[in-house]
Amino acid sequence: MTSTCSPRVNYARLDITEADGVRALLDDFHPDAVVNCAAMTQVDRCEEERAACRIVNTGAVETLAGACDEVGARLVQVSTDFVFDGENGPYDEDAVPNPVNFYGQAKLDGERAARRAERWAIARTVLVYGLPQDESRSNIVLWIQRALAGGEDVHVVTDQHRTPTYAPDLAAGVAQLVRSESEGVFHLAGPELLSVYNFARRVADAFDLNADLIHPTDSTSLDQPAKRPPRTGFVIEKARRALGYEPRPLDDALRDMRERLERDQ
Ligand SMILES: NC(=O)c1ccc[n+]([C@@H]2O[C@H](COP(=O)([O-])OP(=O)(O)OC[C@H]3O[C@@H](n4cnc5c(N)ncnc54)[C@H](OP(=O)(O)O)[C@@H]3O)[C@@H](O)[C@H]2O)c1
Repeated sequence: MTSTCSPRVNYARLDITEADGVRALLDDFHPDAVVNCAAMTQVDRCEEERAACRIVNTGAVETLAGACDEVGARLVQVSTDFVFDGENGPYDEDAVPNPVNFYGQAKLDGERAARRAERWAIARTVLVYGLPQDESRSNIVLWIQRALAGGEDVHVVTDQHRTPTYAPDLAAGVAQLVRSESEGVFHLAGPELLSVYNFARRVADAFDLNADLIHPTDSTSLDQPAKRPPRTGFVIEKARRALGYEPRPLDDALRDMRERLERDQ
């Protein structure tokens, strides 16, 4: 266990499944709010390692909710479009969840655990992309960009629709949610609903790469252990109204990501 600091932020390592550690850290920091981004997010792994998935995505949220109550903190739980079955997206906050895989079920149960805190909010999001801090993380935009830049063909599904979310916009939305002290469920996603295939083509355009290397496929060809919801995506009007959440248009987000990537190289 090590801690690191920057001039503006203190970091401490924490395993959220260790109840004593969670309580000790919150006792030490006495935060006003806890934003829980930690999760087991590999959807197929969650399908196959259900006990481990449940411990992180549900059990640890129960622990966090209790520990937040003890120090008077508000719990902001980050959740997912995968709580929905994807039969009739895009979804607003009043839509009824109905997960089609174990990850979605465990995250939904995590939401229920968060709601048991005295002060809580849930920030659901969708297909997040951006620049990770290090090479250990990737996302769909980096995958498409790196493959096409290397001249590789990619196969991308046409039968899954999402509202892709630019990480800096999501971070701004979560910050607005924390600052506003609003309670309840909020959908924080990008402004445009499109198939993952069309998203990949927009990435190719934004990065001036060869979109002919992107080939359409469908979910049945992927043979994945966990089913994916076909059409999710979010209606973000509530967050716009209540929080002033305003994610940038998709092409602006991709242009910003390209500029940052080129600056970092
Ligand atoms: N990415 C998306 O497209 C997307 C879409 C919808 C919702 N979400 C939600 O957004 C949140 C963040 O997702 P992400 O994409 O950033 O996932 P990620 O890249 O897989 O990051 C998850 C983080 O959780 C940490 N973690 C896992 N188990 C932990 C534990 N027991 N204690 C402390 N930390 C633990 C991981 O740490 P290690 O690095 O040590 O493993 C990792 O840093 C999750 O709640 C996810 O459900 C993501």
